This record gives sequence, C-alpha cells and structure tokens, in this order.
Amino acid sequence: MRLLITGGAGFIGSNYIRYILSAHPDYEIINLDKLTYAGNLENLSDCENADGYSFIKGDICERGILDGLEFDAIIHFAAESHVDRSILDAQPFLQTNVAGTVNLLEEARKRNCIFLHVSTDEVYGSIDQGFFYENSPLQPNSPYAASKASSDLMVRAYVKTHNIKGMITRCSNNYGPLQFPEKIIPLVILNAIKRKPIPVYGDGMNVRDWIYVVDHCRAVDAVLHKGEAGEIYNVGSKNELTNSDLVKLILSKTAEKLDCDKNELLSLITFVEDRKGHDRRYAIDPAKLQEKTGWKPEMEFEDGISATVDWYIANKQWWERIVSGDYLNYYNTQYAERLK
Ligand code: NAD
Ligand code: DAU
Repeated sequence: MRLLITGGAGFIGSNYIRYILSAHPDYEIINLDKLTYAGNLENLSDCENADGYSFIKGDICERGILDGLEFDAIIHFAAESHVDRSILDAQPFLQTNVAGTVNLLEEARKRNCIFLHVSTDEVYGSIDQGFFYENSPLQPNSPYAASKASSDLMVRAYVKTHNIKGMITRCSNNYGPLQFPEKIIPLVILNAIKRKPIPVYGDGMNVRDWIYVVDHCRAVDAVLHKGEAGEIYNVGSKNELTNSDLVKLILSKTAEKLDCDKNELLSLITFVEDRKGHDRRYAIDPAKLQEKTGWKPEMEFEDGISATVDWYIANKQWWERIVSGDYLNYYNTQYAERLK
C-alpha cells in the first residue's frame, strides 16, 4: 500500500511510521508534517533512509498541498494535541484540527482513497462509572476535545454525503518513547531526573486509561486492514489509574533506575491549581475493535512504564534539545518555563 501519513514527526505518528516500516516493509510512506513545536525529525532519524519512505514539510490546511501525490490511504495523525494549550488559545486547534481535516477529507473525496482519522476518547467527555461506547454521545469539555469531536463529525459528514471510505479510531491516553515533555508522563520523568517540582493538578484523583503507544499503532494498522468504512473504533487498554497513583509509580521506577532514594523523588510532588474544565475520568470499551479485528493490547503497564523511563534516561540529548533550544521559541512562554 501507499500511505500518506500526516503528523508523522510527532509522538504517535513517528512511532506509527517505525511500526509500519517493520510490519510492512514493502509499503510506501509519505510523511506530511508542518514541524510545529511538537514535530521533530529527530524522532525519525533511524527511518529517513528506509526504502519507500519520504518526507514533505507542509501544512494540512494548505489547499493543493497533496497535488501530484498518489496514495491509497490517508492516516491522519496531524493535530494540535495538548489540552492545556487549547485552554490558553483555541485558534490553532480550530485551524489545524477542524479546517485541516476538512482539507484532507476533500483530498480523500477526489481520490476515493481510505481516510483513517486518528481521534481521541476525549470527544465523549468525562464519565463517573462504566464505559463509553462508539455510539455514546459526544460531550467534549475542552477546546481540544471539541475540535477533535468537530473533526469526527466532518468525517461522518463526508462518509454520509460523499460516500468516502472514512474510519475513525478513538484512543485513550498514550505513553512511550518520543512523547513531547509537555504531557504528564515525560514531564514527571524529566522533572524527577532534574529534581524539579512535579505539578499535579487539583487533588490528583482524575483517572486516565493508559495505553502503550505501539499498541495504539497496532490498532490503527488493524483498522486500516480490517476496519469497515463508516465505522468508529474505540482503542483502549482498560488500564485506569488516578494521576496520583500514576505519578507515584513513575517515581518509584525512576528511583530504582537512578539508584536514588524514592522518598527524595516523591517529595517533588506538588499539588497545583486544577486545569480548567478538567475531565474527571476517561473510560472506553474497546470490545468492538477486538471483535472485528482480533487486536488486543500486548504491553503490560509496568513493563511499558519501565521501558519508557529507560528511554528518557537514555535519550537525554533528545529532550535537552527540546527543553533548552529552538523548540521553546515556538512554545507558549508559560509552559516553556515549566519545561526548562
Ligand atoms: P503530537 O502533538 O506529538 O504530534 C502532532 C504532529 O502533528 C506534530 O508532528 C506536528 O508537527 C504535526 N502538525 C500539527 N499541526 C500540523 C499541520 N497544520 N499540518 C501538518 N502537520 C501538523 O501529537 P500526538 O500525541 O502524536 O497525537 C497524534 C494524534 O493522535 C492527534 O490527532 C491526537 O489528537 C491523537 N491522539 C493522541 C493521544 C495521546 O495520548 N497523545 C490519544 C488519542 C488520540
Ligand atoms: O485521552 C487521550 C488524550 O490524552 C489525547 O487525546 C491528548 O492528545 C493527550 O494530550 C492526552 O490528554 P490529557 O489531557 O489526558 O493528557 P496530559 O498528559 O496533558 O494529562 C494527563 C492527566 O494529568 C490529566 O488528568 C491532567 C494531569 N496533569 C497534566 C499535566 C501536564 C497534571 O496533573 N499535571 C501536569 O503538569
């Protein structure tokens, strides 16, 4: 197959490209990425010379950006992805996540190719008990989640109106190598290494369902090959943790690996003002995907966290460049300070 992958220089997109190159070495990949603050070609330094791989620096919002390119499927990862930033300024989220997605849907319509839209469990909003299913109502609570829900609805509209081969995945919280350190798991690891305060929002009792990034990549691949046009698939591990428990687990693994006193790292935990509109709990049921494609998550959580801590310890150069260099020029000052 020939795949047009958007946002391939980001966290999940770069893991996905690496996964595809090893699972389907005969596939062609075009990676289209604007290289925003979150996009980083170093994420793909081991892939850049692979047969069939090519990179285009470009904006998914630009009309005609795909002129002259041929492919069988668009796998759409590109997005503004950080909830806190969407609270400070929703405009880039509206532009990239909604207008950019519509621009790509037009390209899929013209070419009659597959359009696999990588969405999020955040579109369903927060749930106190039980699980969200694919037909649960959309009740997004942050500007980020609302922009993703809007893009999901545009995919639906193009399926219904233009009969495009659109599919949507809605995944829970990813973790693993190459995640930008604005997100909670790398932030905790880096601040522990640097002995800096670790900000936990509110009472630390918000719950997230964590999935290893490669398991998400495998799910996207399963939907690409076995999914049905017009369908939505939840992707999750049923692996729920409060933020408080998550942070303690990461700190105890990090202490083991740095051979330091666990209590020293635990003392870095600092409860700070809550995120505005902070969703209390995300929980989705991935049974439909499992039944349709046979996919199931493979990574045990403690092993995945251990591998992730190892990766950040071993790849200091990667994150030092991010937290001290050019990247911060593109980053909102308030959060840049936190990452330094
Ligand atoms: P990320 O922020 O790490 O990467 C986003 C990538 O998109 C970057 O490489 C960036 O340069 C690129 N990009 C942004 N705007 C662009 C534009 N206008 N044109 C071209 N490229 C652009 O994000 P991520 O965490 O890898 O998330 C990838 C996708 O998966 C997003 O659509 C996100 O909503 C979804 N998702 C993420 C998670 C998670 O836990 N991280 C969970 C479920 C779904
Ligand atoms: O659920 C899927 C979503 O997961 C994706 O769609 C998003 O792109 C991705 O960013 C992620 O969103 P979250 O808001 O859940 O992830 P984040 O890492 O920002 O926060 C995880 C939890 O940790 C959340 O409850 C907020 C809390 N948190 C976060 C940060 C950055 C803190 O307590 N302190 C922090 O400094």
